[in-house]
Amino acid sequence: MTGRLAGKVAVVTGAGSVGPGWGNGRATAVLFAREGARVLAVDRDAAALAATRELVDRGEVRPHTADVTDPAQVTAMIEAAVAAFGTVDVLVNNVGGSRAGGAAELDDATWRAQLDVNLTAAFYGCREVIPVMRSAGGGAIVNIASTSGLRWTGSAQVGYAAAKAGVIQLSRVTAVQYAEHRIRVNTVVPGQLHTPMVEARLAGQRAGGDVSALLAARRARIPLPVDGDGRDTACAALFLASDEARFVTGTEIVVDGGMTARCD
Ligand SMILES: NC(=O)c1ccc[n+]([C@@H]2O[C@H](COP(=O)([O-])OP(=O)(O)OC[C@H]3O[C@@H](n4cnc5c(N)ncnc54)[C@H](O)[C@@H]3O)[C@@H](O)[C@H]2O)c1
Repeated sequence: MTGRLAGKVAVVTGAGSVGPGWGNGRATAVLFAREGARVLAVDRDAAALAATRELVDRGEVRPHTADVTDPAQVTAMIEAAVAAFGTVDVLVNNVGGSRAGGAAELDDATWRAQLDVNLTAAFYGCREVIPVMRSAGGGAIVNIASTSGLRWTGSAQVGYAAAKAGVIQLSRVTAVQYAEHRIRVNTVVPGQLHTPMVEARLAGQRAGGDVSALLAARRARIPLPVDGDGRDTACAALFLASDEARFVTGTEIVVDGGMTARCD
């Protein structure tokens, strides 16, 4: 197999999608396989994983069902990758999602669930994969954050914002600590993408179900006249996962059409 990830084994979490189209994890799994990686595609939703496999045009994507907020299932996920492919060279911690609400509104359960799915799941992934990567002599971890972890992005979702800010610093600290073992840890920071999540969840949360109104409000914030989607996140993750990024660790690639650079 040739390609930018030829010979590598990758685990991608959240590799399904909440609807038809290019979610971040789905696009990443398909692109990584096309670029030569053998991919363990992980999701709690087996049907969503099956839909991802339908889109694979080249290479190997093996589905694995797991809930990555459960530490035992994250342990089993990494063990499954090693059993199937012999090692793990790349881990993309992609699972996450937002719930609306500010500090005076969120109940305990929602706050904790936001930290679990957006931050703790990425921590579990790092904890399980680092020993494997150390034994292998190196690896690359790519965590998926959000521009909500950097800026106010148009609505209160404080649990999500705090968790995604945590993902960025989880990556930086882990990068510095394990650099001597040639484990690189970086973050992709997507902005407001048109992924299936917009239709499946966000329009209901933010715009009374009006998808067009939500998309228009999001486009108005973005300098580039382009609708980003999961494939844009996947391209950034591909670079960070590949040996092209051999001197890149502890940093972020913001994929947002220029939104966070703007201040009007
Ligand atoms: N879509 C965007 O505009 C956008 C913007 C910024 C950041 N992000 C981030 O990108 C990542 C992916 O977002 P998306 O919108 O592409 O994903 P998505 O909402 O389509 O979900 C992808 C998959 O994650 C799975 N999943 C959810 N919880 C899980 C769990 N506990 N264990 C295993 N699988 C689980 C779902 O079943 C789904 O198939 C998230 O971390 C999200 O916060 C998305």
